[in-house]
Amino acid sequence: MTSVDIKPLPLTRLESGYEDLIGSADVDGAAALLQGHTNAIRNGTEVSTANGGGTHEGVDDGAKGPAANGAAVEKAAPSEEASQPNFPTGTEKPGVIIPPLQPEGKKNNKAVPWYHKEIKDIDPITRGILENYSQIPADQVEQHVTAIREKAWDVFPYPCIGQFLFLNLTINLSPYYPTLVSRLKDESQTLLDLGCCFAQDVRKLVSDGAPSENIYGADLYGDFMDLGFELFRDRRTLKSTFFPCDILDEKKDFLLRGLDGEMDVVYLGLFLHHFDFETCVTVCKRVIRLLKPKPGSLVMGCQVGSLTGDKVGIPIPSGGILFRHDIDSFERVWKRVGEETGTEWKVEARLERGKGFGEKWQIEGTRRLGFEVLRL
Ligand SMILES: C[S@@+](CC[C@H](N)C(=O)[O-])C[C@H]1O[C@@H](n2cnc3c(N)ncnc32)[C@H](O)[C@@H]1O
Repeated sequence: MTSVDIKPLPLTRLESGYEDLIGSADVDGAAALLQGHTNAIRNGTEVSTANGGGTHEGVDDGAKGPAANGAAVEKAAPSEEASQPNFPTGTEKPGVIIPPLQPEGKKNNKAVPWYHKEIKDIDPITRGILENYSQIPADQVEQHVTAIREKAWDVFPYPCIGQFLFLNLTINLSPYYPTLVSRLKDESQTLLDLGCCFAQDVRKLVSDGAPSENIYGADLYGDFMDLGFELFRDRRTLKSTFFPCDILDEKKDFLLRGLDGEMDVVYLGLFLHHFDFETCVTVCKRVIRLLKPKPGSLVMGCQVGSLTGDKVGIPIPSGGILFRHDIDSFERVWKRVGEETGTEWKVEARLERGKGFGEKWQIEGTRRLGFEVLRL
């Protein structure tokens, strides 16, 4: 793994010379950013010790969507570049608008376009969960989520944290969502939310009747999952199990390894764009090891995508990329996964417009890529 050398760049278009900003999605130098959460968390209680934690440099644009109200679905023709085998790393496009730098050494600086001081509106579905499932009085919801957001910003200043976009759920945007809930409810199937952050999508499933004990969550940052209990006030009631893990580091995913071969569904919400093409193949191969090795096992989720797939460097001190798949490049990931593991996968994917996609600092063509990948 190599470190991304972050160089100061102005808020401008990247015409050339930005290749140095763009590197592997995983960086060992980022370990310093970690809080070192080492234990699995169940019902808010740590249940076993491990050398967890991990490295991270992926930064997303935090793009999230509201309820799927009329989201336009697009399937763009694959770009010439994107249709090249293996989506070589030289395909990054110039003309990318980048956010201003966070000053070096101040990773939690708030002078960035994705830090919103106040929340303007809360998605009604999430508000319903906070008021009914979490029993937070209606007039205290804004204050409550803002207080938790402040703590989360200190853990890692993701754009989705700064913009309160974690309050826009994603799992229910899938056309497969009703079937998923039935599978979890009626057949007691299991689901892992990988890269779950606060595990807000887990709360959506549970509030829709899925048994929480069959649902698991995992994230690089144990603090996010712990803050999830604070956000949803369900430390004593939620029976889900949460694991800190680095999906890229076999040495730091051994808690997760306990789930290998046990999951019916893995949910990847706004997660895969952290990884470049090759790393994405590696991550997906790791993900399918978590699934029961049989037809019907499912990987589903969404990520920041684009009409024409590309990889974008984001110049903040922690480094990072956004790898915005288009449908063609996403399908090629799964072709590779199948070839290299002797398995067969049916990919359903779509590009959608939605809230959080189209911020000024985002790149033209940004869409939400929603997907379901079914083992045949
Ligand atoms: C953009 S957030 C999305 C969170 C949540 N799924 C959602 O939809 O809001 C991506 C999450 O992936 C986690 N993550 C990034 N790299 C990871 C890795 N290598 N292993 C495990 N989790 C990782 C981050 O800590 C972060 O919480």
